Amino acid sequence: MEKRIVLLPGDGIGKEIIYSAKKVLQVIAERFNHSFGFIEKQIGGSAIDEFNTPLPKETLEACQRADAVLLGAVGGPKWDSLPAEIRPERGLLKIRKELGLFANLRPVKGFSALIHASPLKEEIIKDSDLLIVRELTGGLYFGQPSERRNNGEAVVDTLYYEKNEIERIVEKAFQFAQMRKKRLTSVDKANVLESSKMWREIVNEKSKNYPDVTVEHMYVDAASMKLITNPSSFDVIVTENMFGDILSDEASVLTGSLGMLPSASTRSDSFGLYEPVHGSAPDIAGKGVANPLGMILSAALMLRYSFGLDKEATIIEEAVNETLIEGYHTPDLQIENGKIVTTDEVTSIIADKVAEGI
Ligand code: NAI
Ligand code: MG
Repeated sequence: MEKRIVLLPGDGIGKEIIYSAKKVLQVIAERFNHSFGFIEKQIGGSAIDEFNTPLPKETLEACQRADAVLLGAVGGPKWDSLPAEIRPERGLLKIRKELGLFANLRPVKGFSALIHASPLKEEIIKDSDLLIVRELTGGLYFGQPSERRNNGEAVVDTLYYEKNEIERIVEKAFQFAQMRKKRLTSVDKANVLESSKMWREIVNEKSKNYPDVTVEHMYVDAASMKLITNPSSFDVIVTENMFGDILSDEASVLTGSLGMLPSASTRSDSFGLYEPVHGSAPDIAGKGVANPLGMILSAALMLRYSFGLDKEATIIEEAVNETLIEGYHTPDLQIENGKIVTTDEVTSIIADKVAEGI
């Protein structure tokens, strides 16, 4: 059956790298006899220019009908002076919310060719390969009340979760752990926070349904230390919205480059929205030098998590790895004795490897 994929290029380098992902997916489709149908829609600044809104109705509806969405990046100086409600970034927040994408996944894997790009020691990051599962639509960032009180002399934010919101993210994390090394670390602050105590209870309860997954609980302060002193000890990490925000940025230093990192926003069914972690990079847009690897690796995540095509996803990841080992890279990366190539060139090298089979 045909998989319907909505492509949302967005702005800046999003318009360049999205076609790198499409090209690699077309090669996968050909080699493995899959049928992928692509529909392109507007989001962000380019949607503002054409439709006067960062998330046109027809874009949202196309996404609601699709099996998965690939997004480049949004934003740029052209739209910086607009009021907050109609800025490009609002389109991004709105689409995640409208589609109910509560589970944000950030896999962090160090590529051997880039090991010196990280400020951390080689022996520390060498075998790191972890997945952060961050709750995205609840917790401290959404809890009410959140306000100034007593004429500005006091302030309150609220860490609020309903039981089912914790259950569904924890369940997701167990499912990912099952697809990986079957180790789950639940990160909380249960020695202080009531919400964390409940979070812990739910993890323990759910773990009965996943006897093959080893569960450990860790306080967020200890976890943040361990993430940069012994990252290879983690497989899947599941955590509350704000803890996950902080830990995922911390974990990104393990890979050494923003252009390399993929992400996925998912929910209880197989639908997902996949995008690189970086922005629209207006400083290099239109020059043909953007690094498409984070985007291509996001497409691999789509194959794995939305379509259940793990083998195909792994082939793309290995093609990226080999390309870097051979030294081909865009100018944002540093590889000793490497060769600098354009966005299109590095895409073609990867596509050829995917076609030939590794
Ligand atoms: P950015 O991630 O776009 O760029 C930061 C730096 O990294 C720049 O020097 C850029 O050239 C470089 N860079 C980023 N991705 C790259 C890639 N794939 N290849 C080579 N170099 C790359 O972040 P910045 O500059 O803070 O924001 C630029 C615009 O992007 C803003 O309008 C911002 O709001 C938006 N943005 C959008 C995001 C999204 O769509 N998910 C996320 C972050 C920022
Ligand atoms: Mg952040």
